[in-house]
Amino acid sequence: MTQNAAKRVDGKIAVITGGAQGMGAAHARLLAEHGAQVVIADLDDSAGEVLAKELGPDALFLHLDVTDPDQWKSVVRETQTHFGTINALINNAGILLPNDTLETDTLAQYRKVIDVNQVGIFLGMQAVVPGMKQTGGGSIVNISSTAGVVAFLDNFAYTAAKWAVRGMTKAAALELASHKIRVNAILPGEVNTPMIADLDLDVTATPLGRFGNPVEIAYLALYLVSDEASYTTGADHVIDGGYTLP
Ligand SMILES: NC(=O)c1ccc[n+]([C@@H]2O[C@H](COP(=O)([O-])OP(=O)(O)OC[C@H]3O[C@@H](n4cnc5c(N)ncnc54)[C@H](O)[C@@H]3O)[C@@H](O)[C@H]2O)c1
Repeated sequence: MTQNAAKRVDGKIAVITGGAQGMGAAHARLLAEHGAQVVIADLDDSAGEVLAKELGPDALFLHLDVTDPDQWKSVVRETQTHFGTINALINNAGILLPNDTLETDTLAQYRKVIDVNQVGIFLGMQAVVPGMKQTGGGSIVNISSTAGVVAFLDNFAYTAAKWAVRGMTKAAALELASHKIRVNAILPGEVNTPMIADLDLDVTATPLGRFGNPVEIAYLALYLVSDEASYTTGADHVIDGGYTLP
C-alpha cells in the first residue's frame, strides 16, 4: 500500500479465526494495513504469535479452538481488555480432511468437519453479537466455499458444512439486521494456501486459468468489514475465477 492510501477500516476491532496462515493471515494483514486492530485467533500458537509480532501493536494473537464455547468467551473478554468491543468477525477457520466420502466417513470424522467448519461459525457469531448489539452494529463475514454452491467429490462433510455456512449466514443476517449487524458469506474458489498445497487440483477447471491468491480474497473481506458495504447483508459473495460458471 502507498503511504497515502485510504485506511478503509480505521477504528475497527476485528477478530479473524484461523488467522495464523493462509487466507486468514491475508485478512489480518490487509485489515491491519487499512487501520483495523486485529486479533489473530488460531490453534497454531507459534505461527499466530509470529504474525502478530510482524504486524505490531495493532495486532494480538489469542489461542482459540473455534469449537470450544469457553475459549470463545475468553477471546471476547481478552479482546475487550486489549482493544475494546469487537465490531468485526471473520469466521475463516476451516479444515478439509482427505477421503471425506459418504461411504467411508466415520461418524467421528463427519462430526469433526461439521464441528470446525459449521459449529465453529455458530459459536463465533453467538459470542460476538451481544457486544455488537451494545455498540450499535458490526460486520460478520463467514467463509464458505464454492463447495457451498456445488459438490466437491470426496469432500462429503466439507460440502455439507459449506452449504450450511450459507444458510446460517442468511438466517443470522435476517435476525440481526435491525441491530445493524451485517452478516455476509464469501465463497472462494481454489486459492493458493497450505490447505490445498498437497492436493492434485486441475487448474484448467478455473476459467481464469490460475488459482487465487489469498490477498485477492482479503480485498473482498476488507470491503465487507468496511462501511463501504453498509447496504450489503445476507449475501453470497462468490470469488472463484469463474470456477462455478460452466
Ligand atoms: N484454500 C482454498 O482453496 C479454499 C477454498 C474455499 C474455501 N476455503 C476456506 O477458507 C478458509 C481458510 O482456508 P485456508 O485455505 O486459508 O486454510 P489453511 O489450512 O491454510 O488455514 C486454516 C487455518 O485455520 C486454523 N484452524 C484449523 N482448525 C481450527 C480450529 N478448530 N480453531 C481455530 N483455528 C483452526 C489452522 O490452524 C490454520 O491456521 C477455510 O474455511 C477453508 O475451508 C479455502
